[in-house]
Amino acid sequence: MLLRNGGCKMVPIPECEVALAFETPLEPEKLFPLFESKQLTYVDAIMPIRDWITNYKTDMSDIEEALMKVAEKGKSLKIEVKRIDTDVELSAKTIEVQLGKRLESEGFVADLKNPQLRILVALIWNNAIIAADMPRVYNTDIDKFRFFNPIAKESVSRAEFKLIEALGFFGVDAKSIKRCIDLGAAPGGWSAIMMKAGAKVIAIDNAPLEYEKLSTLGKVEITEPNASPPDSWDLLHIKANVRDVDVARLDNLGPIDAILVDMNIEPEKSAEVVDRFSPLLRGGGVLIFTVKLVDEKVESRLSAAKEMLSRDFEGFRVKKLQHNRLELTMFATKKRG
Ligand SMILES: C[S@@+](CC[C@H](N)C(=O)[O-])C[C@H]1O[C@@H](n2cnc3c(N)ncnc32)[C@H](O)[C@@H]1O
Repeated sequence: MLLRNGGCKMVPIPECEVALAFETPLEPEKLFPLFESKQLTYVDAIMPIRDWITNYKTDMSDIEEALMKVAEKGKSLKIEVKRIDTDVELSAKTIEVQLGKRLESEGFVADLKNPQLRILVALIWNNAIIAADMPRVYNTDIDKFRFFNPIAKESVSRAEFKLIEALGFFGVDAKSIKRCIDLGAAPGGWSAIMMKAGAKVIAIDNAPLEYEKLSTLGKVEITEPNASPPDSWDLLHIKANVRDVDVARLDNLGPIDAILVDMNIEPEKSAEVVDRFSPLLRGGGVLIFTVKLVDEKVESRLSAAKEMLSRDFEGFRVKKLQHNRLELTMFATKKRG
């Protein structure tokens, strides 16, 4: 396929919908506008392809030989392997170690923290695509890309990508959620996603939401923490610190199918808040919970949060989503009965 506005040829990768390869003389930065019309939500990397091996050998010797040509003796390097769609049974980590060891034995220098050259080996079906660039390009891609993404243009906040990804990853059909609570909702990206899916949203945050944009999606009402809520609303913003909200007073707003939590506070504190709001959630209702990595104590904070929630919740799953920055996303469902 020839893209009209850039002298840029897209090279199909057989049986693969998640990677695009282009033949183009353009610099990576000039490629971003070309994606304007594509509904992509995530770009992991835009890097020049240095080699493309079809039907690579499973012992990886082809890939090792290709890496030897791409790597430079004077530059420290980091190899990253991505298994996108492949029958190879080895994990990406195992392949990275194997390739790294081979290159080190040939005198190449690895630096996993600040490499001068980042080499990506993407295993896609029976192709091995080898791309390499300075890490700089990779690190700035996502935000630049979002700027050109049509979803981002209409969105209330960048956090929307995170919720869309979480719903997909944990297999939650947003349309099945009729009513939800969004804790730490401002400026309102997650609330917007849920409104678009047809849910009524109780958004709680002491910061204001993007009322103008949200009003295009339904009737927005703003209320004080313990005032009686108006009769009709699609988005009810309780403008308050979650701690000041009397949960029992929300009971008459109807059964809640999901609690969404994206507060930028310590995970145990978020868990305490969820524990308080949990009686409003129906059995089988879902919890999507951003676990902020506020320090190095990830494991202990995560288990403390889970322990606090395990009285009411089950089926915990935790994932570092593509759209998570210094955070993880946790999923659980409310116990029935
Ligand atoms: C990362 S932002 C949420 C972004 C939001 N999910 C979106 O899609 O636009 C975190 C929010 O948590 C809110 N927050 C943190 N602690 C809170 C608390 N104790 N009570 C209410 N809101 C809180 C902050 O005011 C902030 O707006």
